[in-house]
Parts: sequence; C-alpha cells; structure tokens
Amino acid sequence: MRIFVAGHNGMVGSAIIRQLQINGYNEIIVKSSKELDLRDQASVQNFFLQEKPQIVIDAAARVGGILANSMYPYQFLMENMQIQNNLIDSAVKFDVQKFIFLGSSCIYPKFAQQPIKESYLLSGALEETNEWYAIAKISGVKACEAIRKQYQKDFVSLMPTNLYGPYDNFDLQTSHVMPAMIRKFHEAKQTNDSVVLWGSGSPMREFLFVDDLAKAVVFMMEGETTDNLYNVGYGADISIKELALLIQQIVGHKGEIVWDASKPDGTPKKLMDNSKIMDLGWKPEVDLSSGIANTYDWFLSNIEKYKKVAING
Ligand SMILES: NC(=O)c1ccc[n+]([C@@H]2O[C@H](COP(=O)([O-])OP(=O)(O)OC[C@H]3O[C@@H](n4cnc5c(N)ncnc54)[C@H](OP(=O)(O)O)[C@@H]3O)[C@@H](O)[C@H]2O)c1
Repeated sequence: MRIFVAGHNGMVGSAIIRQLQINGYNEIIVKSSKELDLRDQASVQNFFLQEKPQIVIDAAARVGGILANSMYPYQFLMENMQIQNNLIDSAVKFDVQKFIFLGSSCIYPKFAQQPIKESYLLSGALEETNEWYAIAKISGVKACEAIRKQYQKDFVSLMPTNLYGPYDNFDLQTSHVMPAMIRKFHEAKQTNDSVVLWGSGSPMREFLFVDDLAKAVVFMMEGETTDNLYNVGYGADISIKELALLIQQIVGHKGEIVWDASKPDGTPKKLMDNSKIMDLGWKPEVDLSSGIANTYDWFLSNIEKYKKVAING
C-alpha cells in the first residue's frame, strides 16, 4: 500500500513514520510544506494524480497554544480548513481507500461531562481561546463522516488528547504546556532562577506519549473501522501543578515555582473517554514519568536548535 503521511516533519507525523517503519511499511510518501503547500488546492490535486496514494494519514496542521491561537485566529481557522479540505477532497476524487484525519480534544465543548465521549461533539459551547482551531477540526470530522455516509469509504477521525514526545515544539511563543514547562525548568536550572507558570495550576489535563498515538493510528489503519470518530487518550489526568512538580523533579530544577494567576487557565478539566478504541484492542503503554524523561532526553540532544530559535525570536 502506498501511504501518504501529511505533516511527516511534525511531532505526530514523525512518530507515525517511525511506527510505520517498525511495522514494515516501505512505500511511504512524504512532502514537506516547502515541497507541497497543502493550502494550495491545485498543487495537492496534482500531487494525488502523480503519486496515487492508497492510504492518507493527515497529521498536517497549523498548531499552537493559547497565545498563538489568540494572535492568529484567522490563520488557525482558514489554514487548517484549507489543508484538510484539499487532502480530503483529493482523497475522494482519487479513490483513496483509507483516510485518517487527526484532530484534537479541543473539538469538544468547554464544559463537557467528564470523561468526554465521542457523542458529546457539538453538545455545547467551545473553549473561546482555541475555537478557531476547533471549528476547523470539527469541519474536518464532519467532512470525513459525510464521505463515510455518502460513499461508504473508510474515512475515520481520531481525536488525541494532549500529546508530548520527541519533535515537540519547544518555542515558548507557540508551544503547548508540557514542552513549555520542560524548557522553562531546564533554563531556570542553569541559572538557579524560579519558574513562572501560567494560571492557577488547578486545571486537570490528560497527556499521551506521541508514540502511543502513532501506534493507535497504525492500528486503526490496519483494521477496518466501523465508526467515524474515536478518542485516543491516556485514560487518566493530572493537575497542572502536579505535572509541574513531576517535570521539575525529572529536569532537576531546585528553585521556586511561581503561579501567574493573571493568565488564563483554560478549560477546568479535560479527560477523554477512550473506551471505544480500547474496546477494539489498542491501549497506551508509556507512563507519564517515562514519557517525560524520554522527551527531556530528546530536548537535551536537540538543544542547539532551540537556542537558535530563542536568539532569532
Ligand atoms: N501536539 C499535540 O498535543 C496534539 C494533540 C492532539 C492532536 N494533535 C494533532 O496532530 C496533528 C499534528 O500535530 P503536531 O503536534 O505534530 O504538529 P507540528 O509538530 O506542528 O507538525 C505539523 C506539520 O504540519 C505541516 N504543515 C503545516 N502547514 C502545512 C502546509 N501549509 N503544507 C504542508 N504541510 C504543512 C508541517 O510541515 P513542515 O514541517 O514541512 O513545515 C508540520 O510538519 C494536528 O492535526 C493536531 O491537531 C496534536
């Protein structure tokens, strides 16, 4: 099978490539955003015509945390819709057998009942800080669902919880909570400074090691799916305060942690119900401490890259 992994340079895409290679797949097609801008419909159609992928995994997106979402709402809405629409529509036109669309848990309502089941989609208002991104992702889920209904094709959406691991984004302007904390604790350790973290530390969050998500993607790729939407979670959550203490211990920072309560907390609790995919046979394998230690090792081996990011702004 010719498999196109869109977004293979990213944290999720690179983990999927590693997992496909472990499972012996060798006809994997990749293109960086410089080689193929997925926002450009004509280029994407031409690529499908030339390469004829049979399976498409969409791990390409413009992603970022609260700050990036609030600074670039239009790009988060429009670029994500352009990327996924071009991929999904070309996949239908060029008869792709299987399409895996990756979204995120932010598609669910801010005050959804916990743990969040797939059926809670569109049952309440979204978290305002990332609604642009969430609305784009919801439209991708619905596009895949419509194709499944209308054309009986195996187009499926996977909604991972917060992910972390090698190739995460450690740029403090655009990163998610876990890599931001790892970098802040690491840098404060060098200078013996305290670490300032956003919010109150009380929100509860769930984190999944990215290799576990990659295993879920390949697992779903290999089996036939009967439904259109599956959560992929770790199955347990932790407060941001407890997470900070765990990272502080793994990094070896000895200073104080200061909580900046003037900054927003976001959704109070977000835990996915992952029973639907677990019932099919997938389960997470990497615990939080081992996953963070692995991610910190990767950060240390790639630290030069992040020093340059900081200098160049
Ligand atoms: N990170 C998380 O915690 C998390 C959680 C849940 C779900 N997800 C989902 O997983 C997917 C991937 O996330 P990630 O964390 O791996 O993001 P990432 O590290 O930022 O990677 C995103 C990839 O998308 C590609 N891309 C962006 N714009 C593009 C364009 N216009 N044309 C072609 N390629 C483009 C980039 O390619 P280049 O590098 O070549 O520019 C990049 O490799 C997203 O759908 C996201 O919603 C992520």
